[in-house]
Amino acid sequence: AAAVLAPAVGVGGWLYVSAGRGNVGELSFRNRLRIPPLLPPRVDGRRLRFRLTAGPGLADLLPGRRTPAWGYNGAYLGPTLRARRGDTVVIDVENRLPVATSTHWHGMRLPAIMDGGPHQPIAPGATWSPTWTIDQPPGTLWYHPHLHGSTAEHVYRGLAGLFLVVDDDRLPSEYGVDDVPVVLQDKKFHDDAAFDTNGLTFGGLSITGLLGDTILVNGTYDPFVEVTRTLTRFRLLNASNARVYDVGFADNRPMSVVATDAGLLPAPVPATRIMLSPGERAEVVVGFTAGERVVLRSHPPALHANPVYERFAGGDDTFDLLQVRAAARLEPAPPLPDTLAAEDAARPGPNATARTFVLGDFTINGVTMDHVRIDQIVRPGAVEVWAVTNAGGFPSNGVPHNFHIHGVDFAVLDVAGARPPAHLRGPKDTVFVPPRTTVRLAVRFAGYSDPHHPYMYHCHFLAHEDAGMMGQFLVASERT
Ligand code: C2O
Ligand code: CU
Repeated sequence: AAAVLAPAVGVGGWLYVSAGRGNVGELSFRNRLRIPPLLPPRVDGRRLRFRLTAGPGLADLLPGRRTPAWGYNGAYLGPTLRARRGDTVVIDVENRLPVATSTHWHGMRLPAIMDGGPHQPIAPGATWSPTWTIDQPPGTLWYHPHLHGSTAEHVYRGLAGLFLVVDDDRLPSEYGVDDVPVVLQDKKFHDDAAFDTNGLTFGGLSITGLLGDTILVNGTYDPFVEVTRTLTRFRLLNASNARVYDVGFADNRPMSVVATDAGLLPAPVPATRIMLSPGERAEVVVGFTAGERVVLRSHPPALHANPVYERFAGGDDTFDLLQVRAAARLEPAPPLPDTLAAEDAARPGPNATARTFVLGDFTINGVTMDHVRIDQIVRPGAVEVWAVTNAGGFPSNGVPHNFHIHGVDFAVLDVAGARPPAHLRGPKDTVFVPPRTTVRLAVRFAGYSDPHHPYMYHCHFLAHEDAGMMGQFLVASERT
């Protein structure tokens, strides 16, 4: 798609957002969707031991050409890790990149020192081996680098993978068959198929970060997926740097939303669209009839009527993502359960601690990330109310942000004072915060106490995160 340069006045002059016009009608759905392989663990005593190696490679992304990229255990993206509640995992992460990186387990409730954030760098040549016991309900988690200042580049070059916490949930769950990962990313390519990285960092071309005109799903360009059962579960992950997707089918067929970021909803909720800002996930179960073909599409987010905002969010672009081809004969799937074994939602008590966070012009509460400053101290296991406001002064129509908190799950209490729609009432760890809007969250913290190692909260538009829209909190039973 031809890139349109959309001007916006900003600090230091003109900033530009590459706002492609979408790709509808341009794809032919030629390439079978790649399914990231499941990584088999080694059983080490009572622990499951996984091995990830981050390194450079040449990826087959565009037909007939090679893209220098980074991946885990391969040239682009990484394998899918899978474990159950109660499993103790060890993950040996080896860094064969020319630069330091880190590996963060997004959505995992684990001790802060195992979190893989900016305080756990892995030097080139080194191996980091975090270990923890999985203690949370099933969900679609993911892993990606988190070194302060280089997260946008490392993720964009290809470092990301899924981490599934699974259970017997009576939903379609045969990985790659009726349980299909859909990792959404947008890219810009040079003519020689190298990644165009212009705009990756704030202060470059874009106010939200890089928006690409080429969509990859699980690293597959122009993809189709064949389904063989009457119901298929899709695990959607927005692993893009800045693009916001509003995902639904081109024929508006209903999808049953069964999970948000951090786990299952109490019951399936029908929806025709689900909006995902960077870092967010959702699981949907969709019915197909034999022989049909239908396209999964990202529509312009209908959330906000402001055209400038829509452009910054990449929302003026309609993108075909993936064609679903139903086999000529479909195996019947059991009906969806009426209720799902969801965890009780985080519910704040009457005296819950309340905190406020103001997302300003690339600051949180007026400051940028400082590795030695602790911004908040929280009691282990607490449920608090966090109010996050996008103050959005710049440019005049505001900048979209989102908010991710490490080591927690939260319930969205309200968005601009209104209860969120039913399909967004599930457990989450990342939430979109539109310009000039307050989102209130009931945040449940994990029970690990550590007075020395902080967790992060931050905007997950990666250029914003790298520019310093990040703060640190300790979960600790006493101050030190
Ligand atoms: Cu997905 Cu702090 O990150
Ligand atoms: Cu932001």
